[in-house]
Amino acid sequence: MTARSNLTVVLAAGEGTRMRSAMPKVMHPLAGQSLLAHVLRAAPKDAGTALAVVIGPDHGALEEEIKRLRPDAAIFIQRERRGTADAVLAARDAIARGADDLLVVFGDTPLISAATFARLRAPLQKGAALAVLGFRAADPAGYGRLLVENGQLVAIREHAEASATEREIRLCNAGVMAFDGRRALEIIEKIGNANSKAEYYLVDAVAIVRQLGLEAVVIETSEDEVRGINTKAQLAEAEQVMQARLRKAALEAGVTMIAPDTVYLAADTTFGNDVTIEPFVVIGPGVSIADGAVIHSFSHIVQASIGKNASVGPFARLRPGTTLGEGARIGNFVETKAATLEAGVKVNHLSYIGDAHIGEGANIGAGAITCNYDGFGKHRTTIGAGAFVGTNSSLVAPVKIGSGAYIGSGSVITRDVPDDALAVERGEQSNREGGATRYREMKTGGKTPKGG
Ligand code: UD1
Ligand code: MG
Repeated sequence: MTARSNLTVVLAAGEGTRMRSAMPKVMHPLAGQSLLAHVLRAAPKDAGTALAVVIGPDHGALEEEIKRLRPDAAIFIQRERRGTADAVLAARDAIARGADDLLVVFGDTPLISAATFARLRAPLQKGAALAVLGFRAADPAGYGRLLVENGQLVAIREHAEASATEREIRLCNAGVMAFDGRRALEIIEKIGNANSKAEYYLVDAVAIVRQLGLEAVVIETSEDEVRGINTKAQLAEAEQVMQARLRKAALEAGVTMIAPDTVYLAADTTFGNDVTIEPFVVIGPGVSIADGAVIHSFSHIVQASIGKNASVGPFARLRPGTTLGEGARIGNFVETKAATLEAGVKVNHLSYIGDAHIGEGANIGAGAITCNYDGFGKHRTTIGAGAFVGTNSSLVAPVKIGSGAYIGSGSVITRDVPDDALAVERGEQSNREGGATRYREMKTGGKTPKGG
């Protein structure tokens, strides 16, 4: 049989009042990505599937996020927040096209997997008009309760509407439903708002399906997969679940972590073989760590690419746009930003390297700073291969340090330094000459200098 077509409608128009934030709820980050990004990653995306997202009228940032994540998604606006059923109907035009399956998913349920969506759609193929995802909640307060009679799902009761006995029920509505796409509109349009909040509750679809003499079923999953996020406390709980998953996956992929519970990963972190991450490391979005690299304790890394056998930290901060080549070393109290450090570069202590390119094998001494900001704009620093920058030097950008150049300690470099030059610039004392190579030979008796 040919694969069934599908439309996924993601509801994200709620104000998220309980988050007490100016940011739309589904924009809050979980493991470095928005709640919405997690949901969209799990949504069906193969051929014959379409995606619609329902957002609020004041959700500009959210619209940008959707366009970035899924440019193919249709965006619908729910003008007034009149409940989840009303939100689904905002996407009426997409639903009316009549895909075989209609999946309705909440944007605030980010831990869900693609496999569960597939499992929920399966009963439709066997003739059910509606499949509801359920779970047994440790604390069901706030969730809709699934009313099952003789093994049949007969209704869902919202917490606010439930009787004391119904509130005892722990089988809850996860908020994900799969409808027979051809009957969905007819069913959802019948939903009224005769309840305590005068809202159109999507959950009432179950009772309507039953009235029409059609079949509604429950598919169960674990609570951890469907935690709905309405508060900051629930966001923190979901983060714990997500981190546990990411750590487990990293360990299974061969990453060494002796204290995984202290390491924070992002959903998109990638690892090569034999990577080691020491305790208390925070990794934000957009980080790749290649084979054999070691991240020492207390490092914070965002949008950075770490090359093979590179070493970072302890106490290092790699900011967006950092690229470390093979075997590069970033030591303690070093900050980098928009900086490429080629293979074998060493920046071992107390430095800031921003808007910079450092050629292979260069050695940057303790306390050396790229002065990239003059109070008006940002400027670049280029340091050639094999250069040596003495301790406490300030490289005032824009500036180029030639390959093999040697900068004396405490220099303030405001002009380019040619290849192989020896430069000492300390206020009164200004001295530039060629022969950095000769100088090194003199110092070492011809041997390769340590750390050169
Ligand atoms: C909802 C369910 C509840 C379920 C729980 C699971 C309803 C009526 N209730 O409750 O049975 O146990 O989720 O987490 O469906 N939204 C809109 N427009 C609206 C209202 C909501 O787009 O007018 C969106 C929200 O952005 C959110 C989703 O729908 O993504 C769910 O709304 P929310 O207010 O979080 O519902 P819950 O109270 O969590
Ligand atoms: Mg919710």
